[in-house]
Amino acid sequence: VKIFVPKDTAAIAVGANAVARAIEQEAARRSLAVELVRNGSRGLLWLETLVEVQTPQGRFAYGPVQADDVAGLFDAGWLEGKTHALGHGLTEEIPYLKNQERLTFARVGITDPQSLSDYQALGGFAGLKRALDMAPKDIVEEVIGSGLRGRGGAAFPTGVKWKTVLAASAEQKYIVCNADEGDSGTFSDRMLMEGDPYALIEGMTIAGLAVGATYGYIYVRSEYPYAIATLNEAIDHARAAQWLGLGVGGSHHRFDLEVRKAAGAYICGEETSLLESLEGKRGVVRAKPPLPAVKGLFGRPTVINNVISLASVPIILAKGAAFYRDYGMGKSKGTLPFQLAGNIKQGGLVEKAFGISLRELLYDYGAGSASGRPLRAVQVGGPLGAYLPESQWDVPLDYEAYLAISAMLGHGGIVAFDDSVDMSEMAQYAMEFCSIESCGKCTPCRIGAVRGTEVIAKIRRNEHREEQVDLLRDLCDTMLAGSLCALGGMTPYPVLSALEHFPEDFGTAAHPTS
Ligand code: NAI
Ligand code: SF4
Repeated sequence: VKIFVPKDTAAIAVGANAVARAIEQEAARRSLAVELVRNGSRGLLWLETLVEVQTPQGRFAYGPVQADDVAGLFDAGWLEGKTHALGHGLTEEIPYLKNQERLTFARVGITDPQSLSDYQALGGFAGLKRALDMAPKDIVEEVIGSGLRGRGGAAFPTGVKWKTVLAASAEQKYIVCNADEGDSGTFSDRMLMEGDPYALIEGMTIAGLAVGATYGYIYVRSEYPYAIATLNEAIDHARAAQWLGLGVGGSHHRFDLEVRKAAGAYICGEETSLLESLEGKRGVVRAKPPLPAVKGLFGRPTVINNVISLASVPIILAKGAAFYRDYGMGKSKGTLPFQLAGNIKQGGLVEKAFGISLRELLYDYGAGSASGRPLRAVQVGGPLGAYLPESQWDVPLDYEAYLAISAMLGHGGIVAFDDSVDMSEMAQYAMEFCSIESCGKCTPCRIGAVRGTEVIAKIRRNEHREEQVDLLRDLCDTMLAGSLCALGGMTPYPVLSALEHFPEDFGTAAHPTS
């Protein structure tokens, strides 16, 4: 009998390794033949450790399982899929999972992340095989046609970026994967790397073929040791099976890559400081232009994309641009793996086509707050994202619709707060975060964030409150317009949204424009 116990960080953090050991010991004690598979996470994080048992009817889910529960689960007959207080029936029938549209995460949680045969059995390498027979410009056109936009947060069209790199002539070009997932409440990059590393490897290889790059780097944040280990092992397997290195997939093409451990700075997720860091320098933002697409790593044309952008490419090549473009709305095509976090009962990963509303995610999937108190504010898009009040929870999750309300989808991180939150404290925290993480290159951010923290503290203490609120608005204007990169340039989003939508927490009346 096959039993699946996730080896994902989120599961390990709540005891998955102890559960795996307990299952092996208990099976040995009962002389039962059990094959333990360490899969990725299904993304139903409140049920971790979510253990699945393979039966002729399908995989049955049990969770959250602790090591102490294991003997009881054997007693209850879980190997035959029998019911138990921790049982949830067939995994695929759990509504949280069943109602998703998993394209990029199609294999995550299902396969053994290191198994090349599992990967290929579920469509792996079909995209790369097709790309090997295509001209570079046709691969680029396919990605442009799919409508895929950068999933790191900026939503720039991925294919257009690749076109710039393809057009640049140079002896050496690079593919860099930005896996420095620093946004609060986000974990989709990590889950993908730990649960389906070959999807990223395949996506990067296709990018290499498309633009004429032969080498790639995956820059992974140091806080992700399991993702780093998983990727390194998968790269070794892929090389041994000739999916990397000389003669990719039996062709005459060459592509290889390596993992680089990041140094633990939020700003190193900004593409140009990431490149500086990769080159062995301090992570300070470079002025653009030149764009990395023209002059990137070691001064060479470089594709730099987020994990999810690259991991979405194989399915686009395998099933065609039109298949992918059919999901979503407006100019936001395909799906986004949303990450539900914060004060939410059912936190986890929900991959859905663009167009779903925050309210659906918060209640149909998230089941409301974890505390049982009413939800009050939701931050979408990481620490630089706006706080949305309930009146905005029906706006469709679409890049343009969010821009229209001065918010952003970013990398799909959603952090919920209940009515015990003090939004002036959150605004102060946003400025403080910026002051700590600033690279220091430009004045509006380096000094502005420090002054911003002080000004909000004064507002909260009611020291010349009205005057300080005007000063804060002025400061936010300067940071928005004058910062060199998104860290200083977007910190005003959480600050101003808190001030506009929750003025009572600042002791002020609503602003005339709100
Ligand atoms: P940007 O708008 O300057 O650039 C977007 C991308 O398009 C860059 O890669 C840029 O080099 C490229 N690009 C622009 N014009 C191009 C052209 N003509 N040809 C080729 N490439 C071109 O945005 P930026 O500053 O790179 O990213 C800001 C975003 O990062 C924010 O929206 C935020 O959501 C996100 N972010 C994500 C984090 C995470 O943990 N995933 C953390 C912090 C911010
Ligand atoms: Fe550095 Fe901040 Fe300026 Fe960005 S906005 S370049 S992080 S000082």
